[in-house]
Amino acid sequence: MQLIDGKKVADEIKAEIAAEVAERVARGERRPHLAAVLVGHDGGSETYVAHKVKACGQCGFESTLIRREDDVTEEELLDIVARLNEDPSVDGYIVQLPLPKHIDEQRIIEAIDPKKDVDGFHPVNVGRMSIGLPCFVSATPAGIMELLKRYGVDTRGKHCVVLGRSNIVGKPVASLMMQKAVPGNATVTVCHSATPDLKEHCRRADIIIAALGQPGFVTADMVKPGAVIIDVGTTRVADSSKKSGFRLSGDVDFDNVAPLCSYITPVPGGVGPMTICSLMRNTLLAASGRVY
Ligand code: GUN
Repeated sequence: MQLIDGKKVADEIKAEIAAEVAERVARGERRPHLAAVLVGHDGGSETYVAHKVKACGQCGFESTLIRREDDVTEEELLDIVARLNEDPSVDGYIVQLPLPKHIDEQRIIEAIDPKKDVDGFHPVNVGRMSIGLPCFVSATPAGIMELLKRYGVDTRGKHCVVLGRSNIVGKPVASLMMQKAVPGNATVTVCHSATPDLKEHCRRADIIIAALGQPGFVTADMVKPGAVIIDVGTTRVADSSKKSGFRLSGDVDFDNVAPLCSYITPVPGGVGPMTICSLMRNTLLAASGRVY
C-alpha cells in the first residue's frame, strides 16, 4: 500500500508556483492577486479562508479578505461581486460557501465574472469543463486529478466509483475521470443516497472517490484488494483529546481499508492540502491570462 501524501505534493506545487511568481516579478509584472469574501463566523469557513490567505503568502501572491457579518443582504454581496469583477487589480476571487440561508447562493455564483471565477463554480466554467474546453476547474476535483497524475495512478479503462453527487466534488470529478485525457479515460459510476446496491458497486471498483461527508462510510468489506482510494471527507468529529475539541474524519475507515489498497489518501494530509494549491494554480492562470 502506498500512502498518497497530499501535503508533500501540495508543498511541491506551491514551491513551483512561487518560483513562477518570482520570475514574473523579475520581469516587472505584478504579483497575482486573489480576493476572498467571507460572510459570518462559521468555524470551517474561517479555517479554510485562513489557509487560503496563508497559501497566498507562500506563493508570493497578494491577497485581500473582505468580511461581512451574517446579516449582510444579497444586494450588498452582489455589490461586492460587481466591484471585484470590475477591479483590474484583482485576478481572481472566491466567495466562501456556505452563505447564510437568506442569500441565494446560486445568484451570487452566477454574478461572478467567469474569467475571475478561480473556484470554477460558475455555470460557464462547469459547462466548459464538462466538454473539455479551457476553464477554471474547481479546486477539489483538480487537486484529486493532480494527485493521480503525480503518483502515476493508471486510470485508463479502470472502473471508478464516485460516492456523492455534489456540484463541488462528485459531479465534476466524475466528469474529469471520464474525459479522454490522462488521468481520465475511466468508466465511471456515480453512487448517491438513492443508489441501491451501493456496496456492490464499490466492491467492483478499481478506484473509489468518496465524497459523501459521512465519517468511516467506506469499510473494508466494500473494497476490492488493490483498489485506489481517494478520501474527500473532512467531517469535524468531537474529540476531547484535541486542543480544538475536534478532529477531521474522512469518509473511509482508514485503519481497516488501508492494508487492502494499492494507494490511499489520508485525512488530514491527502486531498485537503491539494484543494488549496489548485486554487493558487487557478489564480496564477488567471493572472497570466492562460485560461481566457
Ligand atoms: N466551501 C467548501 N469548499 C469550498 C470551496 O472550495 N470554495 C468556496 N468558495 N467555498 C467552499
